[in-house]
Amino acid sequence: MQKKAKLILTEAKEAFEKSPTTKLLYDLKVKYLGKQGLFSELMKGLGKLSKEDRPQVGKEVNIVKNELESAYQVRLQQLDDLEMNKKLQTEHLDLTLPGPDAPRGNQHPLTQTMQEIVGILSKIGFTVRTGPLIETDWYNFEALNIPKDHPARDMQDTFYIDDTHVLRTHTSPVQIHTMQDEKPPIRILSPGSVFRCDADVTHSPNFYQIEGLLIDKDVSMAHLKGTISFFVKQYFGTKIKTRFRPSFFPFTEPSAEVDCSCPQCNGKGCRICSHTGWIEIGGSGLVHPNVIKSAGLDSDEFTGYAFGFGVERMAMIKYGVDDIRLFNENDVRFLGQFN
Ligand code: DAH
Repeated sequence: MQKKAKLILTEAKEAFEKSPTTKLLYDLKVKYLGKQGLFSELMKGLGKLSKEDRPQVGKEVNIVKNELESAYQVRLQQLDDLEMNKKLQTEHLDLTLPGPDAPRGNQHPLTQTMQEIVGILSKIGFTVRTGPLIETDWYNFEALNIPKDHPARDMQDTFYIDDTHVLRTHTSPVQIHTMQDEKPPIRILSPGSVFRCDADVTHSPNFYQIEGLLIDKDVSMAHLKGTISFFVKQYFGTKIKTRFRPSFFPFTEPSAEVDCSCPQCNGKGCRICSHTGWIEIGGSGLVHPNVIKSAGLDSDEFTGYAFGFGVERMAMIKYGVDDIRLFNENDVRFLGQFN
């Protein structure tokens, strides 16, 4: 039996040696070492041996079997190495090839809108100023000629932080900060977040405004209208007309609401402009002398105009968006259209 085992070993070693691939080597392993392989067959013969002979023969045959197993392992390692080397030589990876394009994001439509508005008005000398989001009652209201108990405070549903601090309800307080910090002539824009306790399809509790302020000598409504007409044509298109409607704001006198002819239907009337042909884009007027005074400037010497536009509104009119909440939902299917 030991002899037979050795014969199998010699034959198997030779076959392993000659086997050219790991796959064929595996077939040989099955043939010699598998459950129904030649060695297992041989081992069955142990049962027929006498009790005395069995341990010794079994031990010797096992040694041969182990030798056969290690011969297999050695050859397997050789073939693995060969196959790996061949792979390394024939297949190569070009690490300099460009990878697949990552999907590209774009700026938020409101950021784009603010930048576009600033870009247009910077051509005629306006520069950007910012102010704090938390304002004192004085900056948000008093200095803008809105005393306590003034009915105009009801126009804006204010988020109060404490008795004297509010989340700013508009960007107009930046007018005061700027007049306090700088000497006229002043020509500034202030885009930014504002807050009001209000929410529906056209109102969001946190939205954006862009404020404009010009302070100089002998400023008139004609200057204001010229600037706004220029802006509207640049932003919505040269065919778009501007209309001023008399209005009231405590911080301007006279005050006007600004409408533009509807860019979606060219003034013919559509859903976006509620079939009027006109759309309101913001408020404006000549800065009230009390506002100039409260910021520490001489209201006899200086005059000015101011305007405030809703940024979401500007974007909604231009792109025909009918729900303000879309801007805050972070849905890439919506945002990706502004690429
Ligand atoms: N602050 C006003 C608001 O939030 C908008 C506004 C109106 C701003 C007239 C102005 C202005 O500068 O002159 O409703």
